[in-house]
Amino acid sequence: MQESGIRGKFEELFGQLPDVIAAAPGRVNLIGEHIDYSDGYVLPFAITERTYAAVRRRSDRLVRIASAQRGNMVITVKLDDVRPGLKGQWERYVLGVLWALKIDHGVDVMIDGHVPLGAGLSSSAALECSVAIALDELFSLGFDLKALARLAQKAENGYVGVPCGIMDQSVALLAKPGSALLLDCRDLTSRDIDFDLASNALELLIIDTQAHHSLTDGAYAQRRASCDSVVTKLGVQSMRELTLNQLEESQDLITDNEFIRARHAVTEIARVLDAVQALESQDFVELGHLLNASHRSLRDDYEVSCSELNTAVDSAISAGALGARMIGAGFGGSAIALIKADQSQGIIREIKIAFGGKGFKPPRFFTSLPSQGAQIIQRAPQI
Ligand code: GLA
Repeated sequence: MQESGIRGKFEELFGQLPDVIAAAPGRVNLIGEHIDYSDGYVLPFAITERTYAAVRRRSDRLVRIASAQRGNMVITVKLDDVRPGLKGQWERYVLGVLWALKIDHGVDVMIDGHVPLGAGLSSSAALECSVAIALDELFSLGFDLKALARLAQKAENGYVGVPCGIMDQSVALLAKPGSALLLDCRDLTSRDIDFDLASNALELLIIDTQAHHSLTDGAYAQRRASCDSVVTKLGVQSMRELTLNQLEESQDLITDNEFIRARHAVTEIARVLDAVQALESQDFVELGHLLNASHRSLRDDYEVSCSELNTAVDSAISAGALGARMIGAGFGGSAIALIKADQSQGIIREIKIAFGGKGFKPPRFFTSLPSQGAQIIQRAPQI
């Protein structure tokens, strides 16, 4: 595993070598969208691109934070000022983790982020988890990976103020190379599902639409609120307990809007389990159908897609993809398409033409093999 030159950059800026270096990846969610906060199943995998964090214990109560992507700017904060509500920008993700882990020492932190920002590939969880695992190692906190995932989520919910679920932090910490992570978001039990497209001459094309609609935060919270409301009105613990039949029979008890939101959640939870079966029996045609159904449900029932994502999905399918769908929170970011590897160039061309025809910014394309979750690259010195 490379360390991205962060050791040298840390020394250059802070005048000493780091005690610990760690890295955590971004993610692609194969299927199971907007159901992590409804106790559902999700099936994400870690991408190759990762964020590196180098940390060093200080002897005072200062926190200094820098990023290789932001030149030599060092943000300095007194540890005693670190609390939710403290204004700031990207460094709040780092401070949130210090807060969630209840760190009581000053530290120097340097970040080197290689997960594309704003592309729906969860660069924020990569950042949180790289810092969380580095601090856990530095201060010998002994948290297991699931506990660290919950703490990184707490940083984002309670400190940064984004009401995200548990999927991104879990996959950033728990993923295994060559596998997708079947995660039960109710208790964080997981199973590694073999995800080998290459030996079937297939590929997962990631299409970054380069669209970022500012709706995301408010709309995400509204979707969560609709699900919570359904659960309360129907007297169940979570969407997980509802079948489509039960939901349809209870339609009178909830609003029409709540009904379609819940229909997405209930059907998407079932699609994840069907996708696992399709993967285990190497039925990629069926997997493609499930991706398409997931996209339709996110577009029509959950209403979190946008024209750029729909264009990426529709043009990929009409150019021959086995299936395609938007991924992540929605309203921009990335889509995925399951394609035959030898059709890649033709499908990319068709998507570019469709984007050009609608006057959208040109999309970016990449692929990624399922990779390793967070890792310690340089261990803490033995004291
Ligand atoms: C964002 C959140 C996740 C999840 C997805 C939608 O990535 O951080 O918790 O809810 O959106 O599936």
